[in-house]
Amino acid sequence: MLTRKDFIERSAKLMVAGMLAPYLGNSVILPKDGKIKIGVIGCGSVSSMYLPHLSKSNYVELVSVCDIIPERAKRAAEKYNVPNQYDHIDKLLAGASFDLLVNLTNMQEHGRLNKLALTARKNVWSEKPMANTYREGKALFDFAKKQGVKIWGAPAVVNSPQFAYMSKAIQEGKIGKVSAAHAHYGHLGPTWSAFFYEQGGGSLPDLGVYNLATLTGLLGPAKSVVAMTSIITTERLVDDKGKIKVVAEDNAMVLMEHAHGALSHVQCGFNYFDPYGHEGTGQDKPTISIWGTKGNMNLLGYDWAPFGVDLATTDHEKTNRYATDTGSYVWEQGASVIAESMVSGTIPLIAAEHALHVLEIIEAARESQASGKRISLTSTFTYPVVT
Ligand SMILES: NC(=O)c1ccc[n+]([C@@H]2O[C@H](COP(=O)([O-])OP(=O)(O)OC[C@H]3O[C@@H](n4cnc5c(N)ncnc54)[C@H](O)[C@@H]3O)[C@@H](O)[C@H]2O)c1
Repeated sequence: MLTRKDFIERSAKLMVAGMLAPYLGNSVILPKDGKIKIGVIGCGSVSSMYLPHLSKSNYVELVSVCDIIPERAKRAAEKYNVPNQYDHIDKLLAGASFDLLVNLTNMQEHGRLNKLALTARKNVWSEKPMANTYREGKALFDFAKKQGVKIWGAPAVVNSPQFAYMSKAIQEGKIGKVSAAHAHYGHLGPTWSAFFYEQGGGSLPDLGVYNLATLTGLLGPAKSVVAMTSIITTERLVDDKGKIKVVAEDNAMVLMEHAHGALSHVQCGFNYFDPYGHEGTGQDKPTISIWGTKGNMNLLGYDWAPFGVDLATTDHEKTNRYATDTGSYVWEQGASVIAESMVSGTIPLIAAEHALHVLEIIEAARESQASGKRISLTSTFTYPVVT
C-alpha cells in the first residue's frame, strides 16, 4: 500500500512532470495513508453494489453515507461500518470532511447535488447521467475546474479488458475499415423507483448510456444522430409511488454517424423480454457487434459484464475467442478506480468529456424524435480512449 511518504514523493515527481496539475489549485488531495475519503449520497439499490466494492478498496476510506430516507443511511452505515450518516446533503457537506462525493441518487437529482458538492470543493463521481442536460453537465465540468476539483460520470465500460481488446483491434486495423456497429441492452424495467419513468428518467440515460459510451469509445465521437423513441408501457406499478404514468421514453433506437462514414446503432428499452432480467446474470450472447472491411467482432455478454470477444478476419475466417479475463473489471468500480487515480496521480480512462458527449447524444436522440430531424453534435472527447 502507498504510504503518505511514498505519496508525497510520487506527487512531487508527478508535479514536476505536470501530471498532477488537475488536482492542484484549491483542492489539496494528500490522502492520509494513501486513501481517498469518500462520502456516498443515495443508499438505494445501486449502493448495495457500490458500498461493498468501495469498502474493499485499498484506496478508499468510507467516511459518510447520506440518504433523504434516514433508515437507508443508517442501514448502510451499520452494514459497511461507516462512521457518519446524514439525511440531507447540507449536513453531509458540513459534516465529517471527505475528498470525493459518490452520487448514487435519483437521476433527476444528479445535477443539483453535484453542483452543491462542487461548490463545497468536493470532487465528484456521479452515477449516470452527470446532469439533466448536456448544458448543465458542461457547466458543472467548467465549474469544477474553477473550484480546483474534478467531476467524472458513469459508466465505467471503457475499463474492461474486452473494451481494450476491441479498441486495439480496431486501431491495429484487424477488421479493416470500420463500417458499422450495433449494440442492444434492455429488460422489463426497474420496479422499485418511479424516477426511472418520470421526466428526466428514461431507458436512454439508464440503459442506452452503456452502449453509447462503448460504441463512441470504440468508433470515436459521434458527429450526428438520428433517433426514434417511444413509450410502450404507459402506466406502471412501482414500489415507492404505486401506479404511475410513464413520461420518459421506455423504448429507443439511436443511429450515430462517426468519422469516415462509420455508422452505428444502439437500441435500448424497458420492454424487452429478457430471461437474464435486471441483474443480467447468464447473458452469454453477443450484445455488441462491429463490422469492418476485413473482419468482424462480437462482444460476449453485456458491455458492463463482458467475458470475451469473438473475432473473425479475412486472415482467419474461423472465429477465435479473445479477451476472456473476467477477474479485473466490475461495472461498479468507477468510483474506486477514480479514488485510485487520485492517489496515484494518474489519469483514468474514464473521462468526464466522454460522459458529457454521451449525454449530448441522449438529448439529441430526444430532439430527433421530437423534430423528425438529424441532429448535429458539438461535443467531443479524447479518442482513442485506450492507447
Ligand atoms: N439499481 C441498479 O442496479 C443501478 C445500476 C447502475 C446504475 N444505477 C444508477 O444509480 C442511480 C440510483 O439508482 P437506484 O436504482 O439505486 O435508485 P434507488 O431509488 O434504489 O436509490 C436512490 C436513492 O437515492 C436517495 N435520494 C434521492 N434523492 C436524494 C437526495 N436529494 N439526497 C439524498 N438521497 C437522495 C433515495 O432516497 C434512494 O434511497 C441512478 O442514476 C441509476 O441509473 C442503478
